[in-house]
Amino acid sequence: PQTSGWRVWTSDDVRNTWPKYTGNTHKGTFGNNLLIAGSDEMPGSAALAAIGALRFGTGKLTVATTKHASTIIGPLAPEATFTFNLKTDEIPNHYLSVAVGPGLNPNDELEILIENLLKQPVSIILDAGALKQREYIKRNAATIITPHPGEFSRLTGKSSADIQQNRISLASQYAIENGITVVLKGQYTVIAFPDGTGVVNKTGNRALSKGGTGDTLTGMILASIGTHRNVKAAIANAVFIHGACADHWIKDRGDQTLSAHDFDQLLPEICSHFS
Ligand code: APR
Ligand code: MG
Repeated sequence: PQTSGWRVWTSDDVRNTWPKYTGNTHKGTFGNNLLIAGSDEMPGSAALAAIGALRFGTGKLTVATTKHASTIIGPLAPEATFTFNLKTDEIPNHYLSVAVGPGLNPNDELEILIENLLKQPVSIILDAGALKQREYIKRNAATIITPHPGEFSRLTGKSSADIQQNRISLASQYAIENGITVVLKGQYTVIAFPDGTGVVNKTGNRALSKGGTGDTLTGMILASIGTHRNVKAAIANAVFIHGACADHWIKDRGDQTLSAHDFDQLLPEICSHFS
């Protein structure tokens, strides 16, 4: 793939594309978003994704999860509303964007739900349990996958070593071939767009190498699409700010001490540098 349409996403890029609202706004302005996440065994993933979405500007957030998980998510994200036993043919099309996967185990039911979702005109973010090799139909709204190298290895059949040595070219190839955006996570997250262009993010550090931080990022991307006009900038800014939170943290705190739930406090602080 070409590398001419590729560059590093900088803090100036974030500033230049940061959403600015002056007129009258209401919660619908910032997106009515659906998060399909969390299970009895992994309720925290959905809570962390919800925190990421709520602290990054979502207008409204509905979480489709289990009743048990909702009792854990609710106290951590009281703004969220819940829906249970989501049926694939009943997903209302008034959602702007949908994120699927944190804290979910892949199964046939989930796959049918995702295939039905892909037929609807909503932006879709697929992460964790929603990542699977599949045929992507051509659609007008964005389809975004957010694999870490191990997940991308499962999707592509390439070894993790191969992926790590060729992050840009393999992510770009997959994005072009499938007509989707690939957010290949890890140090220097690569964001490959279906048109062959892409950006590399340089924020973030080892403090993020902990279970849960990826779930928060998924929620942030979900929210970001609703607040930005440009979907490329929306994704890149979420990834940049996510990493910038960790860079800020290690200035005066040990990297081992960052937990994904700290984004609840870190996001307001870091976003203030750009607002
Ligand atoms: N430098 C910069 N960023 C990093 C680094 C690093 N050294 N290490 C991790 N990160 C960032 C990644 O770029 C990504 O944004 O931290 C986040 C980690 O995300 P995941 O690997 O998806 O981890 P997470 O989802 O939090 O936890 C594991 O993912 O494998 C699935 O479902 C599985 O529940 C599991 C979950
Ligand atoms: Mg993950």
